[in-house]
Amino acid sequence: MTPTPWWQDGVIYQIYPRSFADADGDGVGDLRGILAHLDHLNDGTPRSLGVDAIWLSPVYPSPGYDFGYDVADYCNIDPLFGSLADFDRLVNEAHRRGIRVIMDMVVNHSSHEHPWFVESRASRGSPKRDWYLWRDPRPGGGLPNNWEAVFGGRAWQWDEASRQYYYHMFLKEQPDLNWRNPEARRAVMQAFRFWLERGVDGFRLDVVNAYFKDAGLRNNPPRLGLRGYERQAHVFDMDQPELLDVYRELHELLEEFGERMAVGEVMHETPEKAARYSAPGLLSLAFNFEFTHQPWAASAFQRAVTRCEAALATGGWPCYVLSNHDVSRHASRYGARHAVERAKVAAALLLTLRGTPFLYYGEEIGMRNGRIRREEIQDPPGKRYWPLYGGRDPERTPMPWSAEAGAGFTHGRPWLPLNRDFREVNVAAQRDDPHSVFSFYRQLIWLRKASVALRRGSYRPLIRTPRRAQVYLREAPGQRMLVALNFSAQPVLAAFDEPLPRAAWRLRLCTHAAAHEPLQGGGIHLRPYEVCIFEAE
Ligand code: GLC
Repeated sequence: MTPTPWWQDGVIYQIYPRSFADADGDGVGDLRGILAHLDHLNDGTPRSLGVDAIWLSPVYPSPGYDFGYDVADYCNIDPLFGSLADFDRLVNEAHRRGIRVIMDMVVNHSSHEHPWFVESRASRGSPKRDWYLWRDPRPGGGLPNNWEAVFGGRAWQWDEASRQYYYHMFLKEQPDLNWRNPEARRAVMQAFRFWLERGVDGFRLDVVNAYFKDAGLRNNPPRLGLRGYERQAHVFDMDQPELLDVYRELHELLEEFGERMAVGEVMHETPEKAARYSAPGLLSLAFNFEFTHQPWAASAFQRAVTRCEAALATGGWPCYVLSNHDVSRHASRYGARHAVERAKVAAALLLTLRGTPFLYYGEEIGMRNGRIRREEIQDPPGKRYWPLYGGRDPERTPMPWSAEAGAGFTHGRPWLPLNRDFREVNVAAQRDDPHSVFSFYRQLIWLRKASVALRRGSYRPLIRTPRRAQVYLREAPGQRMLVALNFSAQPVLAAFDEPLPRAAWRLRLCTHAAAHEPLQGGGIHLRPYEVCIFEAE
């Protein structure tokens, strides 16, 4: 049997470095802050969360127009976060604890302050002119085509000095690289190599399916939508066939170093697209974002899983995400009165499915969105579209470590306001509480670690169209687990569509204190928001 790669086996934790922990007191998180909290993530014992890898949102030098997603140097660390020496220490200390490190590579575009773009912009004759997408106005004037920018406005920016437009999929401070230029492509690949040689274990690839645009720059066809960008079908500004060749090249590069991975952020993701891009020999994983937009319903989540499993039937590996730095935190999405109970049910789902779970910092304590007043908005699309859309600051507020002033996050003034409930919802308060969300995450993760069925087993729902509860089997040679999740605030009797395999089922984990009745027969009684995980003996 070929050994399972770690990125299929492990739990990956996203850190948004600005907001994780601030060691130098400037109000912005940094690498030394992360270093100081590695034991929270995994100290080798079930007192810690037990994650297998961290993915760092960008820490490269950046003018910060998109908070690091506008990179001015792919091979360095922004002084805001520390130095390359701090980075090396972080990687070493993480590795010592069995935590791998994944870098966020933002190579669809760079910052307009990247020396490549500065040089490209200098003149039409610049040797790096073709590293970006420059075009003349249309005959008679006007933009090269109808493409819109994700963050609002047209995607073409006029450069008065050289009298051409350049293309930017996001902000005008984020010009898109020209992946058709072999030198530019080589330079980007060199940046990957730089980090691999420094010992990183993988990459998260920002907007991985947008690297190429239609060579003829054809107009996107219209479709119904609210904002400009949504009023177009993105046929020509992403998902071009040339992509696969880049994924292949990257795959080979990773193979050269052994045990390294790449997970792609696919724009306008569908499970089918994600499957296509993560087929064998291409990306190791492609995010499946289906959970980030499901209503709170057992049936909705199960349908999303079924679709993902079907899309990957011919190869590839599922992965699941509930929250990240671009979407509202799920504890807020599903919050209301039963936020804690729902956070536990969602965690149990995420961590017992067949597929790599991605956690977002703070979700292990049931962290919710922060409340951001208009004058506090930092995120560019939030500034532009308020009050229609408030931007992504709410899901990026500082990690609450303790009830102290500054929430244990900073001694200074935090760059975004602390969550108002940080005195109750924080790591210290939950650490010794056996019923906390944090304790439940730890139990789930350590159970998963010890269970071959949960990590690698097949997935088989016992209820085909769930109403209030999902029940499924995870089966691997030598081990069988059953997971039952009640998504509702009522007790339910969840009836199975097929008979339960005969076995003595031992309860391994349960949200509710008093013992659960034995599992047998054609269904299971579940208390409100109850999670039960059984193992067949
Ligand atoms: C991705 C990132 C997002 C960023 C954008 C532009 O979608 O996740 O945070 O703003 O790319 O780089």
